[in-house]
Amino acid sequence: MKIAGSLCVVSGASSGIGKATALELAARGGRVVLVARRAQALEEVCSQIRSTGAQAWAFPTDLSKPQEAVRLGELVLGQLGPPDILIHSAGAGEWRFLDETPIEDLQRLMNTPYFAAAYLTRVFLPAMLEQNRGFILSVCSPASRLVWPGATGYIAARWALNGLTEALRADLYRSNLRVCAFFPGKISDSEYFTRNTDTENRIPKVGRFIPEITSRQAALGIVRAIEREARMMFVPWQLYAFDLLARLFPRIAEHLAWHSGAHRKGL
Ligand SMILES: NC(=O)c1ccc[n+]([C@@H]2O[C@H](COP(=O)([O-])OP(=O)(O)OC[C@H]3O[C@@H](n4cnc5c(N)ncnc54)[C@H](OP(=O)(O)O)[C@@H]3O)[C@@H](O)[C@H]2O)c1
Repeated sequence: MKIAGSLCVVSGASSGIGKATALELAARGGRVVLVARRAQALEEVCSQIRSTGAQAWAFPTDLSKPQEAVRLGELVLGQLGPPDILIHSAGAGEWRFLDETPIEDLQRLMNTPYFAAAYLTRVFLPAMLEQNRGFILSVCSPASRLVWPGATGYIAARWALNGLTEALRADLYRSNLRVCAFFPGKISDSEYFTRNTDTENRIPKVGRFIPEITSRQAALGIVRAIEREARMMFVPWQLYAFDLLARLFPRIAEHLAWHSGAHRKGL
C-alpha cells in the first residue's frame, strides 16, 4: 500500500516503536495522527514531524477508555476523514506470574494493547470499510507465538491482540482492507522496560540468540510490511527462525523457555 498521501493513525506514538513509526511514515509523505496519553510528548513528536514539512496532528487519548476512543474517532473522522493506515502500537504491562499479580491488575493488563486496539479499530472500521481501502497493523509481541514463564497476564494480553488481528483478517478477507501482525524482537532503545519495572530481567536467556533491534529498525520493518501488504512479519529474521523451530518442536521450545526463563522461588 502506498504511504505517500495516506492518513495514518498511530497509537503509542509518544514513544518507542509507535513514535519511530510515526516519524518514518511522515518521512514517506504520510499524514500522521498521533495518539497516546501524554500530550506534551505527542506535541514534541508532532513538532519534529512538522519541522520537516510533513503533516501531523496530536490527539491525546487514553485508549483504555471506550468513551475516549469514541471521542477520538469522532474528532479524526470529522476533521480529517477515515484513516488509510491504522497502526496499533500502544502497549504496557509488567511481567508477573499470575499469582504475583494483584487481582485488580488483571483487567488493566488487558487494556493495552488489547482493548486499545479493539476500541481504535472499532471506531474507524465502518468508515474504512466504506472507502474499502486500508491497512491495519498490530505491533504484536513474540510472546503471542513463543511463551515463557513469569509473564502470564502480559502474555495473555498479547495473545488477545494477536487473536484480534487474525480474526479481523478473516472478517475482512473479501474487502480491500489488509491486516498484518508485526512481531519485533527486543527493542534496545524503547522506554518499555524502564516504564514496566522488573520485567527486563525475566527475558529468557535463550532470547540472547536473537539480536536486539532499535525502534527505528522496527519502524522500517513496519514500513516494509505496509508497502508489501504483508500479512505477517518478524524483525529480525532470527525471530522467525525461532518461531518456526518452536512450531516444529514445541516440547524443545517449552524446555528451553523453562530452563532459561524466570522461576518461582522453590521450583
Ligand atoms: N520494547 C520491546 O522490546 C518490544 C518487543 C516486542 C513487542 N513489543 C510490544 O510493542 C508495544 C509497544 O512497545 P514499545 O517498546 O514501543 O513501548 P513504549 O516505548 O513503552 O511505548 C508504549 C506506548 O503506548 C502508549 N500507551 C500506553 N498506554 C496507553 C493508553 N492507555 N492509551 C494510549 N496510549 C497508551 C504510551 O504512551 P503514553 O504513556 O503517553 O500513553 C507509549 O506511547 C507493546 O505492546 C510491547 O509489548 C515491545
